[in-house]
Amino acid sequence: MTDWDAKYAAAAAGLFGEEPNEFVREIVARSDFHARSALCLADGDGRNGNWLARQGLAVLAVDLSKVATDKARERDAASGVTVERIAADLKDWAPAPGRHWDAAFIISLHCEPSVRTRAIRIAAAALAPGGWLVIEGFAKAQAVRDGTGPDDPSLLYDVTEIQGALPEFEIVEAFTGITCLDEGKRHRGEAEVVRFAARKPMEDDARN
Ligand SMILES: C[S@@+](CC[C@H](N)C(=O)[O-])C[C@H]1O[C@@H](n2cnc3c(N)ncnc32)[C@H](O)[C@@H]1O
Repeated sequence: MTDWDAKYAAAAAGLFGEEPNEFVREIVARSDFHARSALCLADGDGRNGNWLARQGLAVLAVDLSKVATDKARERDAASGVTVERIAADLKDWAPAPGRHWDAAFIISLHCEPSVRTRAIRIAAAALAPGGWLVIEGFAKAQAVRDGTGPDDPSLLYDVTEIQGALPEFEIVEAFTGITCLDEGKRHRGEAEVVRFAARKPMEDDARN
């Protein structure tokens, strides 16, 4: 199992760079994205949650690593934004009942399938009607490529699995393929990724 605290402690700067993930930026730039609050699961040292807060969203971010969460808090303080941050394991963490967000982001959470599936379920359940679920991770095909990401395909994503878990969601983008990453020293160069964005139905749609 990856020792995330050790990895973040050893990093002089952002473990995945200082800039937000490109897919996060792409979704937020859409003309139909009007979210005012976001749940960021596995937010690491905070590059995505912090950037979303700087775009004016109210953000709750969760990550397993206490070291990463402390670094994220320093990042937030340095940029003058407030992000609610919790160091917790997504194997058992859940938001307070009744709390909802307009968008949820899960970026590069590569962990055992039960936790990955639970994180997607929690995020989906915590969305307000019409809310956005945005997921990026390495695709299973990345396991056999040299370079970055886990070698164990069970830790990686299959876009059809995500779609299958959220049959009622309206797909905005469901992509598997090669993209060129430039995220710090670790996620760099060509990689097989899954990018998934979908919207929770409005309550009226769900009843039909
Ligand atoms: C590849 S990093 C990505 C971090 C961040 N999303 C980003 O894009 O910079 C994966 C993150 O998942 C977190 N993580 C792994 N397993 C987790 C779990 N069970 N619960 C919560 N976070 C977890 C790690 O601590 C790490 O910060």
